[in-house]
Amino acid sequence: MRDMPVLQDRRIVLGITGGVAAYKTPELVRHLRMAGAVVRVVLSRAARQFVAAGALAAVGAEMVDDRGPGMVHIELARWADVVLIAPATAHVLSRLAAGAADDLLTTLCLATEAPLCVAPAMNRIMWLNAATCANCAVLRERGVGFVGPGEGAQACGESGPGRMSEPGEILTALERLWDTAGSLRKVRAVVTAGATYEALDPARGFTNRSSGKMGYALAAALADHGASVTLVSGPTALPIPPRVHGITVMSACQMRDAVLACREEMDLFVAAAAVADYRPQTILTHKLKKDAETLTVTLVRNPDILAEVARLNPPPFTVGFAAETGDLETLARAKRARKGIDLIVANPIDEAGVGFAQDDNRVILIDKEGAVAWPTAPKTEIARALVREIMKRLPRTPSP
Ligand code: CTP
Repeated sequence: MRDMPVLQDRRIVLGITGGVAAYKTPELVRHLRMAGAVVRVVLSRAARQFVAAGALAAVGAEMVDDRGPGMVHIELARWADVVLIAPATAHVLSRLAAGAADDLLTTLCLATEAPLCVAPAMNRIMWLNAATCANCAVLRERGVGFVGPGEGAQACGESGPGRMSEPGEILTALERLWDTAGSLRKVRAVVTAGATYEALDPARGFTNRSSGKMGYALAAALADHGASVTLVSGPTALPIPPRVHGITVMSACQMRDAVLACREEMDLFVAAAAVADYRPQTILTHKLKKDAETLTVTLVRNPDILAEVARLNPPPFTVGFAAETGDLETLARAKRARKGIDLIVANPIDEAGVGFAQDDNRVILIDKEGAVAWPTAPKTEIARALVREIMKRLPRTPSP
């Protein structure tokens, strides 16, 4: 799990702007693809003079059509794990510094919350020009990562700083960026997901409609930020996400035991599982026969895993879910207080198209400061946004 390549499955938007160095970008894409990344390319009009879309596609880049339907910039902005601009011309740096949104690339840079990384390439005097220096200072101040430029012979016949870094160097810088962007890299997270199954006899049991999608998406998003994630899951049809340690359990009691086994190594606990509140008092060893007209099964309370974790001393940062019908916010506020948890994510289960077994969700976030309602969105997106909220609140988030 831990030794998976840093760039494996990372979603990289590569913006190519109009410098001679654009001819090196098929080589860069090849490096990124070999490292396991998925690369979508936005080619500026000027860049088309230096590199052909066909050459990029041939080495595995997915070319983005900026005349495509819908809101391409928003889709890309949400999709990206990182936006890399290589080569980045003096012009694009100035437009980024100014916050321009006059083409697909600059618009998506404004619209994304993913880290932005640039590999400048230009004539040395342009690079050293006070305007470029000021633009770069603004961008650095905003957290934009810079790779290079290197020094050496330039296309214009001069020699000095301004050469685009070699593809290998850009790859290394991206890997490093991930290490430092992974601001949860010292955080040990335990996530529960899916439904539990409470056996009645060898053939039957009680369960619920939870698909596990929300918990799996959260585990993946936490791992993307560098957290060390243990996912304790009830039976689901979902694959364990990359870089996540999966433990599959059946019953609430097994889930509790698996979670509490991590008690000494848990900085964050996210309870996304739909844990059965009750289980049959006895699990029959033989299959129940339909002899009687009516059947009474005695159910006993299951342990409340989230409440138990919140009572640990010291407790990890705790995040719970509240699937409710009726007055979502009031019920969830009460649940947060009752269980003594830091953050509760409330979602309705009586609205069409969201919640149980759906791809979308609508949530209200409630902590001690108050409540914020988010619009309906795919669970994967909510998971990523939620992880950002958790990062803001985690008391012991290590600095990069
Ligand atoms: N939870 C848990 N262990 C349980 C029951 C719930 O860890 N035995 C967690 C869930 O993962 C979720 C939160 O607690 O994060 C809310 O669960 P829910 O079942 O909705 O709340 P309850 O406290 O059981 O309240 P009620 O069923 O009365 O609404």
